[in-house]
Amino acid sequence: MPEAANDAKTPPTDSHSGMTTTGHEWDGICELNTPLPAWWLYTFYACIVWAVGYWFVYPAWPLLTGYTHGAFGWQSRAAVVSDLAELGALRGPMNAKIASASLADIEKTPELLAFARAEGGAAFAINCAPCHGSGGQGSTGYPNLNADRWIWGGSLDEIATTIAHGARSQDDPKTHSSMMPSFGRDEILNADQISDVADYVRSLSGADTTNGVDLAKGKKVYSDNCAVCHGEDGKGSKQVGAPNLTTQVWLYGSTKADIAHRVDVGGGGTMPAWGAKLDAPTIKTLAVFVHSLGGGQ
Ligand code: HEC
Ligand code: HEC
Repeated sequence: MPEAANDAKTPPTDSHSGMTTTGHEWDGICELNTPLPAWWLYTFYACIVWAVGYWFVYPAWPLLTGYTHGAFGWQSRAAVVSDLAELGALRGPMNAKIASASLADIEKTPELLAFARAEGGAAFAINCAPCHGSGGQGSTGYPNLNADRWIWGGSLDEIATTIAHGARSQDDPKTHSSMMPSFGRDEILNADQISDVADYVRSLSGADTTNGVDLAKGKKVYSDNCAVCHGEDGKGSKQVGAPNLTTQVWLYGSTKADIAHRVDVGGGGTMPAWGAKLDAPTIKTLAVFVHSLGGGQ
């Protein structure tokens, strides 16, 4: 414990650590003198000098109206515009061919197909992979795009329509909009009926439901409530986006609890409409890319 040092000329040494103190003391607690290393300090000063230079050369400070433009008027926007122009010139001729060809022709012409796959793949990685996964494999609530099971249809045109207009998208009047009713929440079906129909739905894709379950009851509930959208045979309907229930590919999970929950809450997933955000050739390349993932019809 050093002596009170406020009036001493050389600050005292801390007996515990052997270091000098700064001479500042609060209620017997003293501050050790541990200056920053010189290399750190000079780097810090150099950064300040650099920053001041930067203010003069580049756009830096916001003003009441506008901002300081910097000595040479450099603009990130201008840089992007020139990059885009370069890219456009590079892709221009191919994009023009894509724009004028039909989707089917793009797939039939090897040169266009290769370009569409590359461009579509790049656009997919940026715009679609966050929801559908980098390989289009999907996840709960986000459909797998490389399985041959389509909610809204797997032909080139159907895929292109879904991409352009989305599903249940708020900002596109042409979006796919039908929804599954909330059978439990809206008290259309009671808990027993939901349990029965869930067993029956599982049996449609060959799941083992033989442990004493009477499928006849579930089948009746199904015919009365579900067949109108999912079809009497459970194969679904693209018109209303009701998935095929016989395939073992599930959007929301395969367990009885998953299915019962879906019947309880109903509703439907939201896929953004891309028609206003991406240009027409890009939508085409995306449709071809998705179609070529393996599940295309
Ligand atoms: C915000 C998440 C999200 C993004 C981003 C997204 N999607 Fe989707 N997409 C969905 C959902 C959810 C569905 C299922 C809609 C439904 O349940 O009816 C879907 C459905 C689809 C379908 C229809 C699948 C079928 O079985 O009929 C296609 C095709 C598709 N998306 C392609 C794309 C492409 C291409 C992109 C990128 C341009 C994209 N999606 C971006 C969420 C997304
Ligand atoms: C008005 C049409 C409609 C009716 C009636 C309807 N569904 Fe659906 N169902 C849908 C739609 C649309 C979806 C897809 C939801 C989505 O894309 O997010 C769906 C999805 C499902 C799913 C999820 C499938 C998956 O892949 O995970 C199950 C299970 C299901 N329905 C079962 C039923 C059962 C059981 C009934 C009757 C009690 C029923 N549905 C009645 C339209 C309907």
